[in-house]
Amino acid sequence: MGLGDRVSSLFRRGARRDTSVELDLTRPVSELFAQGSSRAEAATATGGLPRFKATAADQVDRRRSDRFTAMRMKLRNAFTPSQPVSDRQMFAGRTEVLGAMIGSIEDQRLHLVIYGERGIGKTSLLHMLSEAAREARYIVVYSSCGAASNFEETFRAAAADIPLLYHSNFGPNTQEAEAGSSLADLLPERFSPRQFADLCVKLTGTRALIILDEFDRCESSEFRRDLAELIKFLSDRSVRMQVVIGGVAADLAELVEHIPSIRRNILAVRVPLMSEAEIRSLVATGERASGLTFDPAASDFIVNVARGWPYIATLLCHHSGLNAIDAGRGTVLPDDVSAALDESLLELRARMAKPIQLQVERLLADGGGKLLTLIAGASLVGGGEFSSADIDAASPKSGDATAAKRFAEELSAEKLLLERRDDAYGRRYGFVEDSLPPYLWFLGQQQIHQDQQVKTPRVSNG
Ligand SMILES: Nc1ncnc2c1ncn2[C@@H]1O[C@H](COP(=O)(O)OP(=O)(O)OP(=O)(O)O)[C@@H](O)[C@H]1O
Ligand SMILES: [Mg+2]
Repeated sequence: MGLGDRVSSLFRRGARRDTSVELDLTRPVSELFAQGSSRAEAATATGGLPRFKATAADQVDRRRSDRFTAMRMKLRNAFTPSQPVSDRQMFAGRTEVLGAMIGSIEDQRLHLVIYGERGIGKTSLLHMLSEAAREARYIVVYSSCGAASNFEETFRAAAADIPLLYHSNFGPNTQEAEAGSSLADLLPERFSPRQFADLCVKLTGTRALIILDEFDRCESSEFRRDLAELIKFLSDRSVRMQVVIGGVAADLAELVEHIPSIRRNILAVRVPLMSEAEIRSLVATGERASGLTFDPAASDFIVNVARGWPYIATLLCHHSGLNAIDAGRGTVLPDDVSAALDESLLELRARMAKPIQLQVERLLADGGGKLLTLIAGASLVGGGEFSSADIDAASPKSGDATAAKRFAEELSAEKLLLERRDDAYGRRYGFVEDSLPPYLWFLGQQQIHQDQQVKTPRVSNG
């Protein structure tokens, strides 16, 4: 008896419903682009190829604009699912985390490590921290690490952003300072963390914040060791420079090696999921910025699906807002959110490897939809990796939780969609692809929405 048979016989009751998921999983991804409703249709209606609605300088083509064009442009800036937030006006919630970060830098002179799952909002937070620090006249150097990043290159670039006038040997009126020289001009061709710290001991009249985002991407363990050493030297010598490291990781040790040596010198912040109130304020912030209104039921729908993930909330607000505008409405309705889920499902599916897509299809056809939704919900609540306790937390009924835990065990044993890891803290599961939890969760939520529509059809007011 294969897994599929076992699952479908165990959960037969859910089977018919799950196989009737209305989003046709066999549709080719190319339909994503055919599905664009009025966006594509408008172009065909005018007989031409689709065109941009605004110039690269964000100027609207008056001949082609309608009253929704400006709203569309504002919406794009209000919800940016493919980019971090860099405008304070568009940043929602997170006051506690940001406050703690600022306090630890300012009051305790600690170095920071900001870690968490993809899309949880690390870079957006770092942008807000940068802005607050610049406001307080810190010199902020933000850099995004890559696979090949190394210590010397990264810190030489950082030093190039620190004017020499802040070096105690060179006042603002010295020739070098007036010539626009920087600390980088004082660095030898090769330098060690100790030499760099020696140079920075001379910083005066300012403070520097060096932000290294995407630190998980850097592959060099030498860089990681050098950075830990630098943090130690900077702390021991009370240098007016602090380092902030950001990156994807399930725990601190995964991101920064050599922790024991610097444990007392850093504050590690795991970026938490946003609270329901914060997600609501994310929707409200975008509402204000775009001029669109989200119907309370549409807002509830988004908050419920987002499960505290800013990335999901932004994605759904963006798509549902565009859907409302395309339909000539200034109000986003639950059906717009449902259409946004469909679009997001196609996007997420397009990012999955073909064998994974096939596994999902098979499990859904075998009636595993309901349990997959619960497991995906547990992954979203657990912030990526999850335990059976997270499955309990994500399951409204205890019977469902028992079945979902057994299913997670079976799937991970057969390495289908899930992997498991045992350590001192017990067993944890994780999906083999980042797109899987939101994909499976969206599918389930879409199904629930459609079932509700059948039970209580909305009266159309035309
Ligand atoms: N506080 C917030 N207010 C509004 N939108 C937010 C907030 N935090 C994150 N977002 C949105 O969520 C998405 C993910 O955010 P961000 O890019 O900052 O996450 P990340 O953790 O850096 O992701 P990655 O690990 O992929 O780099 C972005 O589209 C961003 O616009
Ligand atoms: Mg990021």
